[in-house]
Amino acid sequence: MKRADASLEFNGSSGMPTRGALTIRDLVKIYDPEGVNIMAVDHCSMQITPGEFCMIVGPSGCGKTTLLNAIAGFHSITSGEIFLDDKLLCGPDKPIAAQGADRIVVFQNGALFPWKTLAENVAYGPMVQGVLSKRNALAKAHEMLAEAGLGEFGGKYPGEVSSGMARRAEIVRALINRPKVLLLDEPYRAMDGLTKSIMHEALLEIYDRTKVTIFFITHDLEEAIFLGDRVYVLTTRPCRLKKVVNVDIPRPRNYEVLSSEPFRLLVEETRDAVHEEAIKAFQLGERELA
Ligand SMILES: Nc1ncnc2c1ncn2[C@@H]1O[C@H](COP(=O)(O)OP(=O)(O)O)[C@@H](O)[C@H]1O
Ligand SMILES: [Mg+2]
Repeated sequence: MKRADASLEFNGSSGMPTRGALTIRDLVKIYDPEGVNIMAVDHCSMQITPGEFCMIVGPSGCGKTTLLNAIAGFHSITSGEIFLDDKLLCGPDKPIAAQGADRIVVFQNGALFPWKTLAENVAYGPMVQGVLSKRNALAKAHEMLAEAGLGEFGGKYPGEVSSGMARRAEIVRALINRPKVLLLDEPYRAMDGLTKSIMHEALLEIYDRTKVTIFFITHDLEEAIFLGDRVYVLTTRPCRLKKVVNVDIPRPRNYEVLSSEPFRLLVEETRDAVHEEAIKAFQLGERELA
């Protein structure tokens, strides 16, 4: 067994997390469709610590997805550097990061294979990469699903479980590859409040066990404060770091936090910063993105 030999508790369960530091240094991204330069990111720098639950907020069209795509290796950068721990993902001589299992994007619309059971879905990555035999991968998948509260559902197909369970299985499917960072781009955007709160609980539970670094984009400021360790507020396009809000609410967190005074104050502080940028975006005539 090479990589997938650990359970959900793979990152610092006995102490501080040590993997998954994300360093973004002076990042610039200029899109150039048909010679029209669009500067999406302008010398943006961020230091995300190992095991941090990092929330990214900012006005629509400010460059959040552009940042995530650069980290994931979905597109090139114009200049600057991105490091994951001490590995240079992209930089001056390497404009596009190689995609890899150390960074996994959890997509908004779900990406489980409907014709495979939850356990087969989870086992898929280490199996196709040849990291584990089919038998060992399935055993590992069942073990990790059980740790995520899905022990009885490993043999079910995605269509046979609730959407909340399916989304939880997706995260387990990402984690079996032992990523250093999970990348999520407004994953719960289209969900109603109740489903969203179930998703939050599931994600927090998994995060509390793994302490995997999470890079999570949202426009929902309550979600940002409820989930995050720190909230990075970005400026209107071209994106730079405007402010970092430290969320000093202890974990594990539950829904009682939402009605507490510290929570309300943090949401207000974040809202003030985002609102200022949203007004600038409006005045500049930035287009609302779907
Ligand atoms: N492929 C592209 N070609 C040209 N411009 C783009 C492209 N992708 C994004 N942009 C522009 O870059 C800016 C930032 O986009 P994006 O990162 O998607 O913003 P956000 O995720 O914060 O809403 C926007 O002005 C958008 O129109
Ligand atoms: Mg976006």
